[in-house]
Amino acid sequence: MTTPQNESLQAIKEYADDYDLDLSWLDTRGEWGIKAAPDPKRGMTLSSIEIGSYGEAPDTTDNMTGRPRGAAQRPDAYRIGGYGVRTKSEIWLDNAAALYEESLQRQWSSATDIPWHTIKPLPDDIERAQCQLDTFLTEVEFVAADIPARWVATTSPDYFEPRMFLLSQIMDESRHLDVFRKRALANGGGLMQRPDITTSGVVGSIDLSREFTEMSSRLHISGEGAVLTLFRMGELMSYNEAEKRIYRLAAQDESRHVAFGVMHMRYLSETEPDRREEIHCYLDEGERGLLAGNQNPAAIDTPSSEAMAILLGGGINQYDEGARKLMAIRRRQVREYVQRIRSAGFGERFDNGRADPRLLQIMWS
Ligand SMILES: [Fe+2]
Ligand SMILES: [Fe+2]
Repeated sequence: MTTPQNESLQAIKEYADDYDLDLSWLDTRGEWGIKAAPDPKRGMTLSSIEIGSYGEAPDTTDNMTGRPRGAAQRPDAYRIGGYGVRTKSEIWLDNAAALYEESLQRQWSSATDIPWHTIKPLPDDIERAQCQLDTFLTEVEFVAADIPARWVATTSPDYFEPRMFLLSQIMDESRHLDVFRKRALANGGGLMQRPDITTSGVVGSIDLSREFTEMSSRLHISGEGAVLTLFRMGELMSYNEAEKRIYRLAAQDESRHVAFGVMHMRYLSETEPDRREEIHCYLDEGERGLLAGNQNPAAIDTPSSEAMAILLGGGINQYDEGARKLMAIRRRQVREYVQRIRSAGFGERFDNGRADPRLLQIMWS
């Protein structure tokens, strides 16, 4: 059939003959005639170009060559990607593209968006507690970038939306790492002893994850969920506008990371109900850690917890008051965790006795 498009293609080929060009690539292409339009409010987003076949992420993929989704195959392409994630449900969620765009639009600079000049000399116990907490958070944020980064190069390019979200998360966590490090070095203190978090407890189990959802339930839901609550309450531990701003901006980023985990868990639950029991097991494990953090004195009595109690109380002399406030934050961590799990589609565990009843008692205590 002759169409205006074919006619112009023929004209180009004749031109190629005249000039002895190959131009065979003109025949090999993905879906043509695509005309994406920017969203009136948000501009040309990833969602704007999820149209036609380009918007269709396959349920499974054998794309091992780095071929962009929707591009024509090249039979002689090397299998450059040893992609382990080739099943959509393993990593997918409905709004990864939107979360990625939000991340791009809400990037901030720890160098210039924090009013560093508002930090003034503090009593020694407060400054030391702040530096201990900063040391802890610097390491926590390193882990939060280091571990999801392992899934970037192992995810097929056919699932580029969640993969690009992970890249944005890695950028966010790098900024969190640097902002807490900067705070530790900004007021006459420095870093203190590294906490024992990467070889034990929740963080240790995140590091041992071999599968994406296993990692995501531990990192995005349990780990970052707890950090998000902490950042939201950060104003209570702040002694100047700089610290308040750090917590506020970091919380904004963390809420995106947690939303990614919740939405992925929901998607997996809906598309792979056979994996629900496995997910419940990850949650059993995470809740044991949450419970220990609320009930076991050994888990509460850590350098970072003591530092937070000093900051919350207003000094070592008001430690008991600070510890009381810290327990209130821990209760809020539990409440927000339960809300997230309900939102992810696993709320029945709180109604059918699967979750430890002590967790729910903490919520309402
Ligand atoms: Fe973070
Ligand atoms: Fe995070």
